[in-house]
Amino acid sequence: MTRKQLIIQQAITQNIVNDSLTSIGIMDMDGLSDTVKETYATFPDNFMHTFAVKANSLVSVLKYLKKCGMGAEVASPGELLIALTAGFSPADIIYDSPTKTFNDLRTCLVNGISLNIDNLQELTRIDQLVKEFPETTSIIGFRINPQIGSGDISSTSTATSTSKFGYTLNDGNNRQDIINIYKQRPWLKSIHTHSGSQGCSLKLMTKGVSAITELAEEINQVVGKQQITTLDIGGGLPVNFTSDEVKPSFSEYAGVLEKEVPILFTDKYQIKTEFGRAIVSKNGFIITRVEYTKYSGERHIAATHAGAQIATRTAYLPKSWPLRVTGYSPEGVELILTDENATMTDVSGPCCFAGDLIAVNQKLAKLSPNDYVLIHDTGGYYFTNHFEYNCLPRVAVYSVEDKQDKIEINCIRKAESLEDVLAKMQN
Ligand SMILES: Cc1ncc(COP(=O)(O)O)c(C=O)c1O
Repeated sequence: MTRKQLIIQQAITQNIVNDSLTSIGIMDMDGLSDTVKETYATFPDNFMHTFAVKANSLVSVLKYLKKCGMGAEVASPGELLIALTAGFSPADIIYDSPTKTFNDLRTCLVNGISLNIDNLQELTRIDQLVKEFPETTSIIGFRINPQIGSGDISSTSTATSTSKFGYTLNDGNNRQDIINIYKQRPWLKSIHTHSGSQGCSLKLMTKGVSAITELAEEINQVVGKQQITTLDIGGGLPVNFTSDEVKPSFSEYAGVLEKEVPILFTDKYQIKTEFGRAIVSKNGFIITRVEYTKYSGERHIAATHAGAQIATRTAYLPKSWPLRVTGYSPEGVELILTDENATMTDVSGPCCFAGDLIAVNQKLAKLSPNDYVLIHDTGGYYFTNHFEYNCLPRVAVYSVEDKQDKIEINCIRKAESLEDVLAKMQN
């Protein structure tokens, strides 16, 4: 029996998914542990891995990642608060928001939180703050946009020629300007790019990393010593959403990086990474109950409780963010697709708009009311982020872990029924 099959059966027998709790997210902590171990085993000791909190902001997951030795990359005050709540120390956090206020910058420098400067105006503010706090322990870098072009998904490609992120490398005299900026500021010791994302090839990602590494080498040469000691190469390793296979793997990425930018794999620089999706996606999934089924035109519709409120990207941009779904019987037995039961199906969610669909016209084993739908690879950027205050009821999150020969399931974020919400309002 597959692990997912075991977990869904336990969730049913333990009455974790039932009539009133109809959508849950599951984080597989054993899977997470394997992924983190693989990350560390793949890259040498001069790599420090931070986790991009935007990919999964569940405190229990972050606590675990911290225990595994990871740092945290955050991009908003909320993410910073969550990272600190999970126990990350300021020294292990990088603050990467593209729109930091003066006060945000001051807070980072006062507390020794590292940051990457996004633009020249921010640089001017940091110049002022560094005079005020010359003893800051924050590692300060400059985010460079190497302008390598778009991957398959333009809305998440961060290193296009007109991207909103960072300082462009190839416009006008920018390259020389960056060299001068570093030359005049001995405290600028890091350089940053985040050039990958879902839909980007390893080759494209590596091109961005290669560009900032060459730039760092040139700056150090011009300055006459190794001023830049840290290369922050961002995250962006894509995930395969079409099957359980992990592809590309961390070792494939490391292989391409080592071939194209071998200096990363020496002790010359500390390399920081900011992986998000590749750490968590495959270690989480959603289970939701089929409430009703019907035909609309020729199309079989299975109405579930997981839609745009959990899988926002998929509902709005289904071609860019397709998800894989599998049906299970009310007892948790996988519905195997056969010629007899194959049915072109839309799996819909509970939101009041027509595009609220998790799967569109997919050939699935025919679903019936009270069956379950498992939505794969959703451990990052799906149920792990919203509703921290239960704005919408019925999306609880559970962790699963192997403990003494059995799978232990624990609630790590509660959901409230409509009844609970109304009762609270009346109090
Ligand atoms: C600066 C930065 N670092 C890291 C990440 C994480 O990217 P991913 O989840 O694709 O690894 C992002 C994603 O937007 C980002 O903007």
